Amino acid sequence: MREPSGVEGVKPERGRRLIVANWKMNKTRPEALAFRDAFGRESESLGGVEVAIAPPYPYLSDLASPAGGWSLAGQDCSAEARGAFTGEVSAEMLASCGCRYVIVGHSERRKHFHESGALLSGKLRQARQAGLVPIFCVGETLEERREGLTRELLRRQIEAAENDPADAPLVVAYEPVWAIGTGQNATPKQAEETIAGIRNLLAGRASLRVLYGGSVTAENAASLASREGIAGFLVGGASLDSPGFARICRSCP
Ligand code: PGA
Repeated sequence: MREPSGVEGVKPERGRRLIVANWKMNKTRPEALAFRDAFGRESESLGGVEVAIAPPYPYLSDLASPAGGWSLAGQDCSAEARGAFTGEVSAEMLASCGCRYVIVGHSERRKHFHESGALLSGKLRQARQAGLVPIFCVGETLEERREGLTRELLRRQIEAAENDPADAPLVVAYEPVWAIGTGQNATPKQAEETIAGIRNLLAGRASLRVLYGGSVTAENAASLASREGIAGFLVGGASLDSPGFARICRSCP
């Protein structure tokens, strides 16, 4: 596979790592409550990482951490503020349920729900108006990587954040589409190089954390976390199990 080029430059901030659990459309309410109780016990010994959990919407209030051990994230939000949009959930609703973060532009939303850059700009705007920190997802397909189009694709995806205020804290999740749910994670080197490229594209931001996502497990988290610029993880499948997710959190220095 060809690596993106021209990735030297902008140094990442050093700070607490952010580990986000993206449950997608998984778990019943009793299962979600069981996770909360089990992870509540684990979270007392997670070390210095910041944790956020993005459960399905109906369990947001249930998943609030009793002891402040983690924050809440929405898995998505509407590009509209409110009104007659049956089935949609607004950024303001998420904020009023205690969310600090919202995932915007996940590749599954882009693929299955045909979300465009223009729509994602609207979602980012709504997130900011509600006081949420967006976790903006970007990533290339296997074909795009093979054809050497990764950098150009990421540049185009990041254009959706053009009007997002540069002084507001932004989280970007680099998730290669070919690594999501496939068990085939990007190598630490691929992740580091691509994330350096993303940081260059967003060089004007005052506060930027870039996470890696795509088949992160307790087994590969430490080697990924050791690479420069990887400020944390967006974890799907491996976040559904409380002890396994806690192991991922603990493996981040
Ligand atoms: P995965 O999903 O960890 O199951 O690959 C990551 C994501 O889609 O955010």
